[in-house]
Amino acid sequence: MIDELAVALNTFQEDFKAALARAASDERSLEAVRLEYLGRSGKVTELRKQIGKLAPSARPAAGKHINDAVSAMETLLASAREDAESHAVQRDLERSIDVTFPAIEPELGSLHPVRHIVDDACNYFRRHGFAVVTGPEIEPDYYNFDALNIPADHPAREGFDSFWLTGTLLLRPHTSPMQIRTMQQHRPPVAIVAPGKCYRRDALDARHLFQFHQIEGLLVARGIHFGHLKGMLTGMCREIFGASQSVRFRPSYFPFTEPSAEVDTTCPKCKGSGARCGMCGGSGWIELGGAGMVHPNVLREVGYDPSVYSGWAFGFGAERLGLSRYGVDDIRRFVESDPGFLEQLQ
Ligand code: DAH
Repeated sequence: MIDELAVALNTFQEDFKAALARAASDERSLEAVRLEYLGRSGKVTELRKQIGKLAPSARPAAGKHINDAVSAMETLLASAREDAESHAVQRDLERSIDVTFPAIEPELGSLHPVRHIVDDACNYFRRHGFAVVTGPEIEPDYYNFDALNIPADHPAREGFDSFWLTGTLLLRPHTSPMQIRTMQQHRPPVAIVAPGKCYRRDALDARHLFQFHQIEGLLVARGIHFGHLKGMLTGMCREIFGASQSVRFRPSYFPFTEPSAEVDTTCPKCKGSGARCGMCGGSGWIELGGAGMVHPNVLREVGYDPSVYSGWAFGFGAERLGLSRYGVDDIRRFVESDPGFLEQLQ
């Protein structure tokens, strides 16, 4: 009987070892094994109950056998638990955070290059006492055309005739309506720059967008002449492109100015030499936009007396300025929202 018990205990211990191995180094599984074998209602307790069935003389030896087996099993369990614990510590160490590791930089937005151009131009004029004003992108034809000396049947309307919303309202094709709005609200002298979005029915290509930005400028006071215009625009170009810029005026036509001019500045790429320059096509100049002396009809329309007051105005395309400043060859790049490209232009 004692021998039988010894054999049973042996198998029992082997089963226990196998169960420990299956529980691997997981503390919860080890606890489950302990309860199953050594717990109060576990398998050992079952074995102990068998002792009662033995002859009284055999009981002490049987009890000792079982106790020995139990203490051997407890030793095994204790070392399995130690293993489990050191595994857990190891896992924690592997998972731990290296506080000296360089952080992942948060992605910060930045100003769009066209916004930089607009800001630089506006800051230049602000320093010279000009106010920066903005106005509606949807304008009646009166502000877009009539008040700017472009009557209904005037051929100059054609180039501006774009996105009509109703019979009289359209998305403004230029920022010049802000000249009228400003002069109607203020008596002279007025000195403003008006940046903002404009819209035209232009097919997209390397030089045209149907939505773009203009910077409008207007100065009206007593005794203002073309020299003032030239001086201010030269200063603006030096601010945006660099210290050695010049400005050149080519005769042109706009209904709201007389005389009118198209304005060029020294090509910032070839510095005016034109030598094999892709930016200016070899001319040494790049075009900024239109300008001129405010037409007497425009002054009269807003109640200013043209025999007392005179003024100049200009309207430049901000994206065009951006092409030259950043050496970009296609205006569409500005609106493709490609951060890899835009980040290069800061
Ligand atoms: N508004 C004109 C355009 O978009 C540009 C322009 C020309 C504005 C002459 C002016 C100016 O203020 O005086 O083509």
